[in-house]
Amino acid sequence: MLLNGKRALILGVVNERSIAYGIARQFRDHGARLGFTYAADPIKKRLEPICAELGGELLAPCNVTADEEIATLVETVEKRWGGVDVLVHSIAYANREDLKGRFIDTSRDGFALALDVSAFSLVALCKAFEPLLAPDASVMTLSYYGAGKVVANYNAMGVAKAALECCVRYLAVDLGARGVRINAISAGPVKTMAATAIGGFKTILSRIEEHAPLRRNITIEDVGKAALYLASDLSHGTTGECLFVDSGYNIMGV
Ligand SMILES: NC(=O)c1ccc[n+]([C@@H]2O[C@H](COP(=O)([O-])OP(=O)(O)OC[C@H]3O[C@@H](n4cnc5c(N)ncnc54)[C@H](O)[C@@H]3O)[C@@H](O)[C@H]2O)c1
Repeated sequence: MLLNGKRALILGVVNERSIAYGIARQFRDHGARLGFTYAADPIKKRLEPICAELGGELLAPCNVTADEEIATLVETVEKRWGGVDVLVHSIAYANREDLKGRFIDTSRDGFALALDVSAFSLVALCKAFEPLLAPDASVMTLSYYGAGKVVANYNAMGVAKAALECCVRYLAVDLGARGVRINAISAGPVKTMAATAIGGFKTILSRIEEHAPLRRNITIEDVGKAALYLASDLSHGTTGECLFVDSGYNIMGV
């Protein structure tokens, strides 16, 4: 039991295919107390049975583009738990038209939206939750290979992920003064609701099977296990890092 009694707030489960669901299962299996959030009311219904299945103690709304919703979430969590040991940010969004075609066509609004939801929200959450984070708390977020390399159609989201990974490094310094750690997991492609918005996603999946050292696509369980390492004392000396869980694809050259 690596997380016995730890209070883990998980943002980003929308269904059983969500990467955050794979993370939540590992945390539950290792004794964590779980709390979940949903972005909008229609998602709440879908999340209730998942929250019940995983023994979640808290289910609260939080659209991360709204500061007042983040503030209300902090109040709810403080009342219920008094603090947080693990914070999981597994959230991203870009308009469908910004996930296909030429990157050069990205609109100002589409660019700002992708960066706001997918990168700035991590900063806003860290600031809002800072007073609640336990001295040895662990924060984590989800990134993708497209942060550092050009992936067809990933476009605005690639820029958002680059910003997100950079935010992790800057936040690591601010939070580290209190012993709080923050890291990113760069996950290989997984067929989730968010991924279906990316043009040509099937091609990306088959490329991993053909070219990654492990010659298979990763699962949300694989990501969950890496998240368990980052959430637990096993990664006590690690912060500001980006851990690839991608069957080794990122190491490949020609
Ligand atoms: N699926 C992949 O191939 C893959 C690979 C690497 C990284 N990631 C990242 O993993 C994270 C989780 O995505 P996923 O693939 O599990 O898909 P998902 O669709 O299951 O999860 C995305 C989540 O983001 C939430 N969200 C979107 N806009 C929001 C907002 N304004 N406020 C609050 N929540 C909001 C959705 O409600 C959903 O719960 C994302 O950051 C994604 O970029 C995914």
